[in-house]
Amino acid sequence: MRHLLDWLDIDEPTWQACIREAHRYADHRTMHADRFLDKALGLVFFNDSLRTRVSMELAASELGAKPVVVTPGSGTWGFAWEDVVPMTGGEAEHIREAVGVLSRYCHGLGVRLFAEGTDRDRDMSDARLKTFAAASDVPVLNLESAARHPCQALADASVLHRTFDANTAGKKFVLHWTWHPKALPMAVPNSTLLMASRLGMDVVVARPDGFELDKGVMEAARRQAAAHGGSVSETNDADTAADGAHVVYAKAWGGFERYRDPSAEEARRHANTNWRVTSERMARTDQGMFMHCLPVRRGVVVDDVVLDEGPSLHLDQAEYRLHAQKAILSMMWSGGSPKAVTERDRAS
Ligand code: CP
Repeated sequence: MRHLLDWLDIDEPTWQACIREAHRYADHRTMHADRFLDKALGLVFFNDSLRTRVSMELAASELGAKPVVVTPGSGTWGFAWEDVVPMTGGEAEHIREAVGVLSRYCHGLGVRLFAEGTDRDRDMSDARLKTFAAASDVPVLNLESAARHPCQALADASVLHRTFDANTAGKKFVLHWTWHPKALPMAVPNSTLLMASRLGMDVVVARPDGFELDKGVMEAARRQAAAHGGSVSETNDADTAADGAHVVYAKAWGGFERYRDPSAEEARRHANTNWRVTSERMARTDQGMFMHCLPVRRGVVVDDVVLDEGPSLHLDQAEYRLHAQKAILSMMWSGGSPKAVTERDRAS
C-alpha cells in the first residue's frame, strides 16, 4: 500500500479483509501487541481532534509501535504550502522539508488536514493532502481531509457489518443532513455515502435544497451501489426519508454556496433549523439505529433522548475507530493486506 487517502483506492478483497480484521481486534484487543515494535507512526494534526488522536495513538501503541504526535503551529515551525521562492513570508519551513524529515523518522504518517474553504475544486480534489503525500517517502494515512475521512468510514462499515450480521445489502440507510451553526466540511458525508453504497445499502441522501453533495461523489456512490446490489437516491423531505429506515446517520455540512456567497449559505442553513433528528422522526423508522461520527451538538443535530435511550450506535462507532485503525496499520506495515498478518501469525 502506497498511501490510504480514500477507500476507493483500495480493492474489494482488501476492504472486506480490513472489516474482518477490525472485528478480530474488537474481540482480541491485545492481539499482535508486539508485532510492530520496530515501527514509529507520526501523527500530524493541523486541526483539532478527540477520537482520531486518541484512537490512533492507542492503535499504534497496542500494536507495539511508537506514536509521535505533531501539532503544527503549536510548538513546531509554521509550514509554507505554496511554491513561492524566496520564502519571505511568516512560515519558517516548507511542507516538503517538514514531511520529508518526518518520513525519515517514521514508518508511516497520519495527517488531519481539513478544507481550506476558499476554493471548492481545490478542497474537493484534496489538493493539500496530495501535496503532503507526495512529499512523503512512507505511507500516508488520511485522518480526515477536505474531502474524505476513510478511517471513520472503515469503523462505521465494521459497525454496520456487525450490527446486521453481514447482511447490510438492501437495508435502508438515510444520510440525514442536519442544521449546525457552522458550515461544516464534507469529508464525513462524502465518505459515509461511499461506505454505505459499497455495503450494498439502499442509501437516501436527505438534505434541503442547496445542500447537495458533490456530483462526482454522488456518481461514484451510484457506481458502488450498482456493483453491490444497492441504490442511491436523494430527497428534500426528511420525514418520508425516515419511513422504514434501518439506519439514520446524522451529519451537518455546509452548502457549496459558501465558496461564492457565505452569507447566502448561512441564511439558507439557518432557514433549516428544523432539520434535526428527533424521536418523532426516529419513530417512523423500522426500529432504526441512529449513527453519528461525533462530536455531536445535542439538541441541535439530534434530540438528547435519541442519544441517551437509543437505539444508537454512536459510541460503537467511536470504539471501532481503534479496532479499524489497528487493521489499517497492520495492512500498511505488512505488505498491503491484513490477511498477510493473519496468515503469518497462524503459521508462527
Ligand atoms: N469522528 C472524528 O473524527 O472525531 P474527532 O474529530 O474527535 O477526531
